[in-house]
Amino acid sequence: MAYSFQITSPDAYKLAYEKSVMDPQGFWADIAQNFFWRKKWDKVLEWNFKEPRIEWFRGGKLNITENCLDRHLGTIGNKPAFIWEPNDDETDARILSYRNLHFKVMQFANVLKNNGVRKGDRVIIYMGMVPELAIAVLACARIGAIHSVVFGGFSAQSIADRLHDSQAAYIITQDGSLRGNKTVPLKDIIDDALVQCPFVRKCIVLTQARIPVSMIKGRDVWWEDEIKKVESQGNPDCPAEEMDAEDPLFILYTSGSTGKPKGVVHTVGGYMVYTAYSFVNVFQYRPEDIHFCTADIGWITGHSYIIYGPLLAGATSLIFAGIPTYPDAGRLWDVVAKHKVSILYTAPTAIRSLMGYGEAPFEGKDLSSLRVLGTVGEPINEEAWHWYKKHAGADKLPVVDTWWQTETGGVLISNLAGITPEKPGYATLPLPGVQPVLMDENGKELEGNDVSGNLCIKFPWPGMLRTTYGDHERCRTTYFSTYDNLYFTGDGAYRDENGMYRITGRVDDVLNVSGHRIGTAEVENAINMHHGVVESAVVGYPHEVKGQGIYAYIVLENPDDTHLSEQDIMKTVTRLIGAIARPDKLQFVPDLPKTRSGKIMRRILRKIAEGETANLGDTTTLLNPEVVEQIITGRL
Ligand code: WTA
Repeated sequence: MAYSFQITSPDAYKLAYEKSVMDPQGFWADIAQNFFWRKKWDKVLEWNFKEPRIEWFRGGKLNITENCLDRHLGTIGNKPAFIWEPNDDETDARILSYRNLHFKVMQFANVLKNNGVRKGDRVIIYMGMVPELAIAVLACARIGAIHSVVFGGFSAQSIADRLHDSQAAYIITQDGSLRGNKTVPLKDIIDDALVQCPFVRKCIVLTQARIPVSMIKGRDVWWEDEIKKVESQGNPDCPAEEMDAEDPLFILYTSGSTGKPKGVVHTVGGYMVYTAYSFVNVFQYRPEDIHFCTADIGWITGHSYIIYGPLLAGATSLIFAGIPTYPDAGRLWDVVAKHKVSILYTAPTAIRSLMGYGEAPFEGKDLSSLRVLGTVGEPINEEAWHWYKKHAGADKLPVVDTWWQTETGGVLISNLAGITPEKPGYATLPLPGVQPVLMDENGKELEGNDVSGNLCIKFPWPGMLRTTYGDHERCRTTYFSTYDNLYFTGDGAYRDENGMYRITGRVDDVLNVSGHRIGTAEVENAINMHHGVVESAVVGYPHEVKGQGIYAYIVLENPDDTHLSEQDIMKTVTRLIGAIARPDKLQFVPDLPKTRSGKIMRRILRKIAEGETANLGDTTTLLNPEVVEQIITGRL
């Protein structure tokens, strides 16, 4: 399907950009009318950033799955919607055509209904990268239930926190998930979470790994049995629930600078319009494309660019269950060659880790199907950018460096593949419809070029978050109160002499470890839960592969057996958050540097972790200046 909103030349980009600023409502209405609405909207946009209140396509009625699936059946029903490449390279790949996927989504939507799930109910999905994960997501959307996918690397405690926060009474999971040479016992982890969550009514369990699991009568049911029940009921249809444009589609939990992750809420209409628009334009989608996004569906990148964006565009999207280094470091290139992938969208951390294996993994791999390369999730260093372009892109394919966030729903700043200019290390220019500004510490806008500041967005776009679940005030204070009338991203950026943006990283206490967002406060809270820890401070430091590593300074009550304490603390963090939040370096210190009012001086700790020990500024005003030397001496 060709979209009238595809921007196909630099001039068209400029024109679209101008129109989006002069007449945003007309601009977005033109795009939105490409979709199937049961009832057209009454008003394109209603907004203020004070409360904040953001409404797109008010009065419009639709179901996103009719746009992802039903709408395509007459034209591309037999086209593959998903190609599934399993964890190992011996099991057969699976292909789900649009027709097939439509059928399976309706079938599972009926399973959900049979199990009592209704419009507006929250459903936690905790699965590996299997096609059934996408089916579960779409089945929720079909009946208007709000899905909240939790990444498979999070611990039972994290799941319990999310279950409580969202008051979800339903869970969809699987026995175990195969990843590399490991089997993650997902149902066991869910069981541990459920000890704390008696309000959960049903847990639907898919069989994949065939490991033993406990199934509690009345609560736990097998996916396969439930499908059989639906089959025996005879009616394969499941009409799509009519949703208001502003009804919630999903909640996705993400880390911020305070202790508890927040549930970012996206709504049906705006998210649909924005993910399709950004997908088609950033990657310059063509109907024959095979799109391979390596992210996990548990993160926003997987939501927007494995499931929703590609399906809305009628694309073929590849779901890869494995990891780039299993069974060997050539796996990604094997997958590209095997499925004739044309768009490869991955993270700088994956590129940097593959760089370590040199050129051998490319040998004998035919990458000639590739047309566009993309990166997302963290700043990409120039070396990695060039390596990617050279080895995956034969030095000629466009590389899109796409900057965005869980909160933005889709890509906001990126070059459009082959259409607008690229620059190594730069996300470059905003998509039409997106108005970035740079602000200084005093709330003044930095105009002109060659300036650095805090990155904000001046005007709403349809894919932006509407609230944080159950706590609208938190949404306001986090994103809309730092600067008047602006959405504050939490990122710093530099705008070069040509107006191109380079994202320099977070300016708040959020780390980006291997492209995963982790709040330092969250890790500190976990460490401080450990018996014997007096206090701790967690900061980031540059890490060659992960982008940022986690450096924890810890004060112990009784610093005798630090070896055991270290292992205990690692285990505590793994239990409370998940292995992804384990510190890379753990330094036991006699005390933390503090101001006279008792505030921990993270700035100093950050510098020490970064190795900048010569340049710590004035430390004489500290409450305990002597600890600084001790910390430097013990630096890891
Ligand atoms: C960072 C991921 C530099 C940024 C889609 C942002 C990037 C955070 C880029 C959001 C990029 C994402 N260049 N930094 N191209 N893309 N980031 O919510 O710090 O998991 O705020 O969304 O990742 O991470 P999140």
